[in-house]
Amino acid sequence: MRILLLCHAFNSLCQRLYGELGARGHRLSIEFDIADSVAEEAVQLFRPQLIVAPYLRRAIPASIWRQHSCLIVHPGIVGDRGPSALDWAIQEGEPEWGVTVLQATGELDGGPVWASERFPMRVARKSSLYRHEVTEAATCAVLRAVERFAGGHFAPTPVAPGDAGVRGRQRPLISQAERAIDWRRHSSAQVLARLNAADGFPGVADHLFGEPCRLFDACPEDSLRGGPPGEVIAWREGAILRATVDGAVWIGHVQRAAPPASFKLPAAQVFASSLADVPEAPLAGFFAPHGRTWQDIRYQEAGQVGFLHFDFYNGAMSSRQCRRLLAAWQWATRRPLRVLVLMGGRDFWSNGIHLHSIEAAESPADESWANINAIDDLAEAIIRSDGLLTIAALQGNCGAGGCFLARAADLVWARAGVLLNPHYRNMGNLFGSEYWTYLLPARVGVEGARSMMRNRLPMSAAAGVAAGLVDACLAADRDAFRVDVARRAAELAASPELAGRLHDKRARRQADEAAKPLARYRAEELAELQRNFYGFDPSYHVARYHFVHKTPQSWTPRHLAIHRDLGWSVPQ
Ligand code: COA
Repeated sequence: MRILLLCHAFNSLCQRLYGELGARGHRLSIEFDIADSVAEEAVQLFRPQLIVAPYLRRAIPASIWRQHSCLIVHPGIVGDRGPSALDWAIQEGEPEWGVTVLQATGELDGGPVWASERFPMRVARKSSLYRHEVTEAATCAVLRAVERFAGGHFAPTPVAPGDAGVRGRQRPLISQAERAIDWRRHSSAQVLARLNAADGFPGVADHLFGEPCRLFDACPEDSLRGGPPGEVIAWREGAILRATVDGAVWIGHVQRAAPPASFKLPAAQVFASSLADVPEAPLAGFFAPHGRTWQDIRYQEAGQVGFLHFDFYNGAMSSRQCRRLLAAWQWATRRPLRVLVLMGGRDFWSNGIHLHSIEAAESPADESWANINAIDDLAEAIIRSDGLLTIAALQGNCGAGGCFLARAADLVWARAGVLLNPHYRNMGNLFGSEYWTYLLPARVGVEGARSMMRNRLPMSAAAGVAAGLVDACLAADRDAFRVDVARRAAELAASPELAGRLHDKRARRQADEAAKPLARYRAEELAELQRNFYGFDPSYHVARYHFVHKTPQSWTPRHLAIHRDLGWSVPQ
């Protein structure tokens, strides 16, 4: 079928559906929901047999839904209506939630139901639930709905809140007053639920050191406590610790209410000058302490296998985070290990350099340069580690430089369901570094590398395996994936073939170095980046500004809106 994906932005759920529907042979095009007239034009050009709206922020115009079948993905259980479905479900502690695919009608979220799915809730941020449970459920439900539509005999079920067996109900947009934390009354669990319900957007409006800001990136603390509720009682790296009535909660990121830097940044960075009298609470080393606490770099060991976790918020890696991770890496490689697994974070493995920290820097060009060099140092250390086998285990999505940092490891294993965006060009024609010119052609060939960079499309884990970028696609379930990674890594460590494997690895590296030294790859990439950062063409700085400030889209990129290609014509 010809399916038009109508969406507010090409977010991770749209990317996933794009991959899944495309793999089933459907012809897809994408239009961003910018204005009714633009959507109408897209429908006219593409003449879709079906419209799927995985992520919309406003209603589809009647001019479209009256003429065409439009399936809307609602992140709520059957009968639930309203724009804050998941936010309410988290804040009110629903034990189970779901996704409903319904037909667009004149009533918002009130159309007949084509398919629905349910899942148990987890204590996690909204963005994490969205990227895992909601995305899996939505993918199942959309695929089923599309099949039913294609079959031509399915009659979607009209549902109204209050119908027998329907638990969902109409709920309004959740306000900041409803999200507000009462530090003198709310327990740590309640504070966490409120912060989780608002993360990644819009955060909880609050005050820190007398300044209005929004809070994000909350983490429980089991040991440290004290001080009046609401007061900042400690800090560690980018995070600050606030006392609650029954303990304390870490806040990793804040967004200032007032410009210029009113975008998410590490809390301790934003309020650095106010923390002079607040004690630092550093951790001793990289091993996880007992109990829950804020720890962005964490190490575990099982026999001769090491696991290095780096759960950086949104997968963004600042210069300092890259340097700290390099130190952790160097420390881990000195341990008696045979295999070292780079686990990344639960939601993202890495999205490359930290565009927010760069935007906030006095000289974004200098900070871009520092950040790319810091991530290159890390990539180089991984490439050059010749005494052990290295594995990148992708639990979460991976974008831009993050994909090539992963590829620096000997093996890349991805959780089924993970999305990769192995290209840089969307960020203002950024050339990119992380030794991609060395790592990528070696896996996918010169033409494969060129087309990945040029096409700028997301790739599923399975497609990554088919292309040669990923070595294995493992279980979709997060816990099953971690168990499988640990088991396979232990098998490799115990294998009598490991010594031969490491010998081959050293020989390959030596041959590669003789053919073209790593330093030359780096110098060539950095020469291109120097033009991106310091040259006449400001495209990268402009694109980064819009990315960080979340400027609304004003057009759909041509590589997504294929109906806007000059050569496009509807197949007969
Ligand atoms: N630096 C800072 N923040 C980043 C980031 C980066 N490199 N990459 C992603 N983020 C943030 C986004 O701003 C967003 O923040 P939010 O929590 O306020 O919404 C969040 O991470 C999720 O990103 P989003 O773009 O909504 O996710 P997605 O799944 O739709 O798209 C990517 C994933 C990787 C395609 C997209 O995030 C992207 O293009 N990131 C930039 C990659 C890049 O160019 N890196 C620099 C070159 S190495």
